[in-house]
Parts: sequence; structure tokens; C-alpha cells
Amino acid sequence: HTVECAEQALEEMLVANRFGGAGSKVLVEDLLEGEEASFLAFCDGERVALMPSSQDHKAIGDGDMGPNTGGMGAYSPAPVLPRSRWEETAELVILPIIRHMKAAGHPFRGVLYAGIMMTEAGPMVLEYNVRFGDPECQPLLMRLDCDLTEVMLACAQGRLDPAMVRWKDDTALCVVMAAQGYPEKYEKGMRIEGIRNSEELPGVKVFQAGTRREDGLVISSGGRVLGVTALAPNLAAAQKLAYQAIERIQFPKSYFRRDIGAKGLGRGV
Ligand code: GLY
Repeated sequence: HTVECAEQALEEMLVANRFGGAGSKVLVEDLLEGEEASFLAFCDGERVALMPSSQDHKAIGDGDMGPNTGGMGAYSPAPVLPRSRWEETAELVILPIIRHMKAAGHPFRGVLYAGIMMTEAGPMVLEYNVRFGDPECQPLLMRLDCDLTEVMLACAQGRLDPAMVRWKDDTALCVVMAAQGYPEKYEKGMRIEGIRNSEELPGVKVFQAGTRREDGLVISSGGRVLGVTALAPNLAAAQKLAYQAIERIQFPKSYFRRDIGAKGLGRGV
């Protein structure tokens, strides 16, 4: 946000070597202000099937405070990128790439992910990924209303029919349970209980990421450990259900954000 802040970051990377070789070269970009949205599409090299919009929460702390993480929670749809704007947004950030890759002789087949900042000057791309986002994937898959493998096969074989990809109208929301201390130093090896109990709530699914099984027990083995995801008729209900589901999980030395979905609710959804 300030020149001083930018200079400090440059000092850390180029002088103090904070990120080692990875920080020996820097790219200075404009600061983009706005709300973030993730916009993904299945692509078969030529045709695309747009996925509903979603929103990640990258910062570790409530109110987007603290260092960035791989993502502490997500929900779909994201009111900041409403249905009425999907086609024009795809025309801006998805379709030009698909057309270019085809013309260049390298048709792109798979999931294209555009991370967008919704600025006052319109949507601006922050990053592209060629995969599902984590944790956007969890709410998106909860809303998918057809067979994912059929869709993926159609993409791979260049015969994607966008009409085959159907979505539930409901809202899905995922809260990531992480190990305390993440994204800095954190412990592993905590015993997690209550996952099955949590999933007994209708509409709840607990996606496991940083876990391993040991003698029939679930043990934490990473920084972002669980993606507790709820599907409900609207955002407020999905948020409530996801946090109810978390209450059923016993996970010592864990941490999660308590405001996933707040931005969307702030838009009066
Ligand atoms: N959620 C951001 C990513 O998967 O890169």
C-alpha cells in the first residue's frame, strides 16, 4: 500500500535473501484494490463450460489480516461476480486464452482457473492456474450436479458439451481447519476426532488434505488439514451449517477463520 512497504519487501527479498533463490528476481506490479473472485472453466481445447463463481479467503486472519496462505475458506457462488456477469467475464479472461492456445497448436484441455480482482476499472487477472483451486474446489464439487468423471473424460477427448455440466442452485461454503501457527511454523501429529459425527449433519462433507491414517486414527500431517464444507439453500445457511460442523470436530492445536462468507453476506445476499 505504500512505497516504504514495497521497499521493505524488496530489501527482504533482494538483500536479506528471505526466499533464497526464489526471491532473487522480483516483478513489481500495480496494487489492485477490490474484492477477489475465482472463475474456473472446464475446457476441451475449444469449448468451455463455465463453473459458478467462487471466492477464496487467502489471508490467515479474520478480516483478511495477516500473511497469505494457500486459502483458508471459500464459497460459491460469489455475489461479487454474479451470474449476470459470467459471460462477459469469460469473454475477457477465459476465452481469449482458449482461442490463443488452439491457434498456437496447443489446445488446452482441463480446468482453467482465473484469479480475478474485481476493481473499479473492471475485473483484472491476478493469476492463472491450470487446475481446480483449493479451497474453491470443495464448494464447487459440492454444487456439481453431474458425474465429474464424465465431464473430465469429455474434456480430455475434445467432446465437451457445456449442457452436460449441471450445477445445484444451492450455496456451498468451505472452512479450512489448519494447524495452529500455519503458514509459519506448526506442529503435525495431532489426533483428529469427530469427522464422521460432523458428516452426519445433512449437507456436510469434510475433505481431508493434511491428514494420514495411523492404526485407524486420523492424524494431522500438514498445515491446511481439513476442508469442512456445507451445502445449503443460501449463503447464510451454508455458513451456519459449516461452523456447526466444525463444532463437532475435536482437533487440538487447530485454527480456523470465523468469518468465511462474511463479504458475500455484506453484499446483502
Ligand atoms: N485457492 C487458490 C489456489 O488454489 O491457488
